[in-house]
Amino acid sequence: MTGFSSQWLSLRESADHRARNVALRQEVIQHFEEKRPELGKSEQTPLRITDLGCGTGSNLRALAEVLPAYQHWTLIDYDPALLNAARMTLSKWADHVTAPNSGTETNTELRCLKNGKQITVNFMQVDLAKNIGNVLDNKIDLLTAAAFFDLVSPEWITRFCQSLKAPLFTVLTYDGIEKWSPAHFADQSVLNAFHAHQATDKGFGLSAGPGAIEMIRTQLSIRNFNVRLAQSPWLLQAPEDQALMQALATGSAAAVAQTNQIATSDLTAWLSARMLAQSCEIGHWDLFAIPH
Ligand SMILES: C[S@@+](CC[C@H](N)C(=O)[O-])C[C@H]1O[C@@H](n2cnc3c(N)ncnc32)[C@H](O)[C@@H]1O
Repeated sequence: MTGFSSQWLSLRESADHRARNVALRQEVIQHFEEKRPELGKSEQTPLRITDLGCGTGSNLRALAEVLPAYQHWTLIDYDPALLNAARMTLSKWADHVTAPNSGTETNTELRCLKNGKQITVNFMQVDLAKNIGNVLDNKIDLLTAAAFFDLVSPEWITRFCQSLKAPLFTVLTYDGIEKWSPAHFADQSVLNAFHAHQATDKGFGLSAGPGAIEMIRTQLSIRNFNVRLAQSPWLLQAPEDQALMQALATGSAAAVAQTNQIATSDLTAWLSARMLAQSCEIGHWDLFAIPH
């Protein structure tokens, strides 16, 4: 497993939510406002949303408020600890919760009421490296993911795009741009080594990393999807984002150390400087693709 901790996901959640591209999200809202009456769906028919690599459910917490009043989410991750954390975090986040089956097992359904929205949540432990075909065979109105697609391989993206039939809204796919301030002499070499680490196997074969979003755009465009892209960078500033910047730099330095591409003294100097960084920008893209 790639081993994302719930602490790390919690630390980044507010930066993730701030970074999402508002104009593209508006296009998603508008699509469902226009499309559902066209399909003769009543207001009470839940929108069926599947979230790939859900972590602790941050994507649901960001999107639920802008989607229709009745929603049915399937949250998918291969890490049972994260699915448990998702269940607990969503239970606290909701205004009111009922679980039809008692107990805290991740496979029991959660029914949440949040700001007037009726949200049913199912949790599924699935290794998406192996089982994406089965997931995409389900009836889905919207497939979504956050901070997920840079982990997968080009071959996996091809298989995924071949099987995709539903609209896709994927946010916060890393594009490789990092700008730290103040600048440090080792910034570029650390970033190059970080990208080399990113290209290693994260369970799906050698990762697409920063190339992922362009691969999805190309693959879906040739399959006749209407694909829209918009930038969603993290814009982090001290002091409010200091803890996130420090955790980010620490994680990057640990990954870079594994590549043996940077002298230890340079990496140590870079990390010390980054503990005191004033700001940083991390590039991401959001993508909304609708089948014709
Ligand atoms: C960067 S985290 C993003 C989590 C969440 N979407 C968010 O925005 O907070 C990537 C997620 O993908 C999940 N993941 C990685 N490889 C996976 C696989 N093969 N099958 C299912 N989930 C996977 C991880 O467990 C993790 O929760």
